[in-house]
Amino acid sequence: MSTVPLKTSEQLVKMRQAGRITALALQTVNEAITPGVTTAELNRIAEAAIRKMGAVPSFKGYQGYPASICTSVNEEIVHGIPSARKLVEGDIVSIDAGAIWRGYQGDAAITVAVGNVSEECRRLICSVEEALMAGIAAIRPGGHIGDISHAVEMVAQRYGFGIVREYGGHGIGREMHEQPRIPNWGPAGRGLKLEVGMTLAIEPMFTLKGSATRTLMDDWTVVTADASWAAHWEHTVAINEQGAEILTRA
Ligand code: MF3
Ligand code: CO
Repeated sequence: MSTVPLKTSEQLVKMRQAGRITALALQTVNEAITPGVTTAELNRIAEAAIRKMGAVPSFKGYQGYPASICTSVNEEIVHGIPSARKLVEGDIVSIDAGAIWRGYQGDAAITVAVGNVSEECRRLICSVEEALMAGIAAIRPGGHIGDISHAVEMVAQRYGFGIVREYGGHGIGREMHEQPRIPNWGPAGRGLKLEVGMTLAIEPMFTLKGSATRTLMDDWTVVTADASWAAHWEHTVAINEQGAEILTRA
């Protein structure tokens, strides 16, 4: 028996809507990213968009988290808390958002360049998005979690970027974090067997240099130990007979 809650087609209808709302909220935030905007303003925009579509921001209050999105700038990898910090040209910022629709969750993240950024940072951002899509493309029923992990790791290796190993993807459904954990590295063909009806959040994180992380005094913001910059992308997907359907596409 699977340890992972498989979704019925009725549940998938709600997951699809939660995913769509999450994606549309991220799109709205993306359009607002410009030098001078504060991350608190982006949080306000995301929360308003999610609520306007009749959903609830899933992050707000989650284990005491104080905002509706995570905004992780430069050497911040994930779980950055929106604040009065103004984004400046050359920054890169991960926006992570989640919405609950009729009891079901969507979770997605993008990394955005603020104005012109260095060539190296452009490559970093593109490589993580590429790794996300490679991980998703590796999904087929009968395969294994390790197939996703391996596909993501291969992209990092090809570009020569560091992989964040202390955080990864996760099952998702009624809860934001369900079984299984999805590492962004490791051998193919290992781990839990993939089945039709599983819903997963896949979220690669790469850095320009080292893999080690630490958490700031705010108890949330995860940064690279060596202060090298990081990028992070995430989609919620559902496994079907053909492979995976991306639920967080606008
Ligand atoms: N997308 C994040 C994750 O998958 C969720 C942010 S954690 C929160 O871990 F506390 F901010 F909700
Ligand atoms: Co997630």
